[in-house]
Amino acid sequence: MRVAFCCTDTDSAPWLTGLRAALPGAEVFVWQPGAPQADYAVVWAPPQQFLDEQPQLKALFNIGAGVDALLKLRLPEATQIVRLDDAGMSVQMAEYVCHALIRHYREFDHYEADTRASKWSFRKPQSRAEFTVGIMGLGVLGERVARAVAQFDFPVNGWSRTPKQVHGVQCYAAAEELPQFLAASRVLVCLLPLTAETRDVMNLANLSRLQPGGYVINVARGAHLVDEDLLALLDSGHLAGAMLDVFRTEPLPAGHPFWSHPRITITPHTSARTLRSESIAQIAGKVAAMQRGGSVAGVVHLSRGY
Ligand SMILES: NC(=O)c1ccc[n+]([C@@H]2O[C@H](COP(=O)([O-])OP(=O)(O)OC[C@H]3O[C@@H](n4cnc5c(N)ncnc54)[C@H](OP(=O)(O)O)[C@@H]3O)[C@@H](O)[C@H]2O)c1
Repeated sequence: MRVAFCCTDTDSAPWLTGLRAALPGAEVFVWQPGAPQADYAVVWAPPQQFLDEQPQLKALFNIGAGVDALLKLRLPEATQIVRLDDAGMSVQMAEYVCHALIRHYREFDHYEADTRASKWSFRKPQSRAEFTVGIMGLGVLGERVARAVAQFDFPVNGWSRTPKQVHGVQCYAAAEELPQFLAASRVLVCLLPLTAETRDVMNLANLSRLQPGGYVINVARGAHLVDEDLLALLDSGHLAGAMLDVFRTEPLPAGHPFWSHPRITITPHTSARTLRSESIAQIAGKVAAMQRGGSVAGVVHLSRGY
């Protein structure tokens, strides 16, 4: 069995060591033009030439949860595209979103500013019941985040493409129920895949539907958010702030208003990092299952785009 490794901007050595240990008997190699046909591939942002030269892959493992960039390429027809499902990412997402939510709700930025100015002052506690958190996307990551947020007794709404039932979460589904979901939410968390349907979903019309004093946490993809619409609603006072991890252009270009906006906190696409050993263990488990003729979780449906 041959496994090709083709990950742009990734230090290949520790991946090769880990994959070879997890897949004894497999020939694991870094792909170069003209390399032999592999059975499986581990990829991140591969060049089109790689896909064109490897038409017989049984599966292509993307070392991330989002496949929007990969799906822009011409893919081998018979190859299953498999994304990471969780592999240590959902707990990181839960940490990030709970941090953003609690930091905002408990006004820790204000306390930090006060204490830096040697000021001992209290703020009136806010009502938790008025901070309903709406999570767009109730998949592997969104559901884990919903459960973590609910642990802190915040009311939680969730929105997905198909109807779901999640304990402690008021669930909404499909485009028809989006307005209702938004109107019932004050803090909006985006954990959607980027598809033709979800691009620009956080636009002026939709963000305006959030309850007054709304707060936006985007941990999915930059193109879910229309930047100028967020800025307009912060200016108008309808939205109180935002914490953003992902951007239309990354790195965020110098001079972009998000860098310096007083009510926007940014992080450099770091909310849930790919963890190498967890990812290798997951990929090796899936390769073994496929070799036995079994099915695996995380297979991307090309028609729906995620
Ligand atoms: N910032 C980071 O570091 C980072 C790291 C990892 C992932 N991400 C992003 O997080 C995204 C989600 O990951 P995941 O593993 O949770 O994905 P997932 O398991 O595929 O879940 C996607 C969720 O979005 C819902 N959805 C898809 N299209 C929709 C639509 N048109 N309307 C309403 N709901 C829709 C799905 O609905 P159904 O349940 O009905 O299918 C599902 O609940 C990834 O695609 C990636 O973009 C970001």
